[in-house]
Amino acid sequence: MNSAYTSENNKSCDNFFLCYLKGGIDTTGGTMDILNLEKYNQLKNTQWRNAYHIQPPPGLLNDPNGMIYHDGVYHIFYQWHPFETRHGLKYWNHVTSKDLIHFEQGSQIVEPSIQYDKDGAYSGSAYRIDDEVMLIYTGNSVNDNVRTPYQIIKPMNSDDKTLVVDGNPEGYTGHYRDPKVWKEDDMYLMILGAQRDDLTGCVVVYESKDGLKWDFKHELKTNYNEDSFMWECPDLIKFEEDDLLIFCPQSTIKKENSNIYDLGYMIGHYNKNQGSFDDASKFKILDHGFESYASHTFEDEHGNRVLYVWMGAADTSYPDAKDGWTQMLSLPRVLELENGHLIQTPHPHLKDLRLEKEIDVFNKKHQNQYERILEDIKDSFELELFKNEDESLLLTYDKDAKKLTLDRSKMKHQFALDYGVIREYNLKDSLNKLQIYVDHSSIEIFINDGEAVMSSRIFPNQKENEITLNQKNIIITLYPLITTNTKDFL
Ligand code: FRU
Repeated sequence: MNSAYTSENNKSCDNFFLCYLKGGIDTTGGTMDILNLEKYNQLKNTQWRNAYHIQPPPGLLNDPNGMIYHDGVYHIFYQWHPFETRHGLKYWNHVTSKDLIHFEQGSQIVEPSIQYDKDGAYSGSAYRIDDEVMLIYTGNSVNDNVRTPYQIIKPMNSDDKTLVVDGNPEGYTGHYRDPKVWKEDDMYLMILGAQRDDLTGCVVVYESKDGLKWDFKHELKTNYNEDSFMWECPDLIKFEEDDLLIFCPQSTIKKENSNIYDLGYMIGHYNKNQGSFDDASKFKILDHGFESYASHTFEDEHGNRVLYVWMGAADTSYPDAKDGWTQMLSLPRVLELENGHLIQTPHPHLKDLRLEKEIDVFNKKHQNQYERILEDIKDSFELELFKNEDESLLLTYDKDAKKLTLDRSKMKHQFALDYGVIREYNLKDSLNKLQIYVDHSSIEIFINDGEAVMSSRIFPNQKENEITLNQKNIIITLYPLITTNTKDFL
């Protein structure tokens, strides 16, 4: 980290990877202590590296940030600590894509570089001013143990940073972050996660005429009344009839078999004049798996609302860290509201991952890289995935209890044990269909064409495993999937 690498065009920076992206490196003057290509190639071939998901080159990934479709290209950013596989100094890494399934490393990495973001470029979003993409994020700065949040804007294609919200207003602590911007009529609006002086969580809204000068509008009144000390990564999305408020309330109250902090949502109506979220549903969990937090949404080329989650959890370490990289993003999913219900389906482009359908699914080993569809489910069942001599992941459907249970207690690599080894989802009615995406260290289960999702990490011992099902009358389809992470640093 401390050795400087000088590029041919005389740029100098302290990290090989960043220098490489900035164009040309001359490594003669330093030791590549953090990352070199050889090291990267080793990392890329490790057993749990995924084949079609976004994951960090080296280092740690957390929240998805700043996603936008612009001039035919998807820009996807994420929280990234390039130097270690634990939380530390955060950058935004940049990935581009034309189709949301093939990715390339981008060059517009956001580096902490000024006094206002010296302790990290924290989460934020992207929006357009005229035709220019603007990134907005929270600069983290801690002096003498006092945290001051700064909201900063930066054009995606330039290094100019401008401070737009200086610190936290009276009534709130330094936990004031994660700006998400959208445009409504002729105004820009921004929602931020916050902590009140009495150490309870909430969100606040700012507005701006030009996207550059921001004014505090109000704290959003909601009917959320569970314990929480801070709300992270809020998002407010306008659908035709209703609005969706997504946020991550952090609480010290520990619930059995649930994640350290919730990622959830309410459906209601944002009343701009009253500063309230009216006629709201109760708070619901957005993803019923073990790993889902700090989601981010944006509009795709067709105007679909697309969501990514961080497939990780705060204060948790994962077995992949030993290989020099850790944590990953989910697949993109499309969000819709139907009759007051949130529907989440795999992004339609994911169909392009499919290879030819396999007919004979049982009594053979499959590479951990497939999509599997179970249809016409009529009875209870037990499905074992990632199964070999000494481990398996169990997914059980109990028809009478209307319950789906994911149990990772029989896997060899155990982690996050403080939060339990099972997750349950209580179905609205019966189970008809499951669509399951397996990558080398992840599983995403879509239930009944969008009713719910369960996303989880899993660290199997072997790269190929069997699948067993104790029920004969279910229609099963299996598609092996292609590898799309073929470019450098992905
Ligand atoms: C959520 C979060 C955000 C913050 C970021 C820092 O996971 O804590 O509130 O901006 O991560 O990496």
